[in-house]
Amino acid sequence: MNKNYYITTPIYYPSAKPHMGHAYSSIIADFFARFKKIDGFNVYFLTGTDEHGLKIQRSAEKLNKDPKSFCDEISKTFEDLTKTLNLSNTDFIRTTEDRHKVSVQNLWNILEKNKQIFLSKYSGWYSVSDEAFYNEDEVVEKDGLKVAKSSGSAVEWVEEESFFFKLSEWEKPLLDFYEKNKNFILPESRRNEVISFVKSGLKDLSVSRKTFSWGVKVPSDENHVVYVWLDALTNYLSSLKYPDENNELYKSFWPADLHIIGKDILRFHAIYWPAFLLAAKIEPPKRVYGHGWILSGDEKMSKSKGNILDPLEIINVYGLDPLRYYLLKEVSFGNDGNISEEKLENCINSDLANNFGNLCQRVLSFAEKN
Ligand code: ME8
Ligand code: MG
Repeated sequence: MNKNYYITTPIYYPSAKPHMGHAYSSIIADFFARFKKIDGFNVYFLTGTDEHGLKIQRSAEKLNKDPKSFCDEISKTFEDLTKTLNLSNTDFIRTTEDRHKVSVQNLWNILEKNKQIFLSKYSGWYSVSDEAFYNEDEVVEKDGLKVAKSSGSAVEWVEEESFFFKLSEWEKPLLDFYEKNKNFILPESRRNEVISFVKSGLKDLSVSRKTFSWGVKVPSDENHVVYVWLDALTNYLSSLKYPDENNELYKSFWPADLHIIGKDILRFHAIYWPAFLLAAKIEPPKRVYGHGWILSGDEKMSKSKGNILDPLEIINVYGLDPLRYYLLKEVSFGNDGNISEEKLENCINSDLANNFGNLCQRVLSFAEKN
């Protein structure tokens, strides 16, 4: 039996400080990592920050900062959070590190060598907030503004020369892959969503941008930077020292056992990522789990909506373990869930103090007396 286990969180955008949603994914992943360790596995647990692309470049510009020092500052708050949350992560990767860029350029070269990439022109919708391309039927008008149906983020019209990945060729192989690997996408409702999206037809995917420079350069044409999602997804390989496929880390831990992600980024992990890997003749990960959202009221908690709860403030008042306990128990895994100070206090009082506290008190005093 293979006793190695590789688990990851998403790498978060350091466009603003982390919030409870980020803490949630990280705590879930840490919970699995620790469980696997107790169960005798060698665990490799990766987290980090996703630092390229227009979203970061614009956030830095707004503050008159250069993107690298902007990222240095905010990435540090994510790294600090791994300590505050007591995560057992093995590595923390930043996509601005050289070890990562080498890996992205190598994957690009292989895709090019395998005739999976061609030069053309993109014209269509793009959401900088989601760093995603959207089809016409995925865009609606809201208050006179064009927004993506799924996320509600503003989209802008883009027309520029771009390299494309032949995603359309992977429709059938992906469907076969999902069929053979029934648990590749979990929970099942998400799996069905992905399959019906793929069945509805995949278009070739724009994988480079030419009108800004904050990214990894396309090796064969330095006027282009690699699309931030192709860049970001590669982090799961670069931490294992890919492209050196003979090193112990890569040999022991690839393919990844579990990518923990939020349902907002399912398409990238369950469609694009296995397609890139199949096209590069690299084995895809074994499982992608798209968990639900931490809500604020009935909306997704997100920095762009400004409805966030700061995990540090909660931890300062209530402590770390009660927060971890709450998120793991009260948010049913796979579904959306809520957190408020009132709910957290109820959970602490009824479960931790009354039930477990009382149990410990009775057992210990019984033991002492007898
Ligand atoms: O998407 N509830 O980064 P991101 C639960 N850089 N989880 C939440 C959440 C919420 N309200 N808000 C965020 C990106 N998350 C890319 C990822 S991976 C190769 C690149 C968690 O900063 C959840 O895991 O927008 C979600 O998928 C992720 O943070 C998005 O973080
Ligand atoms: Mg996001």
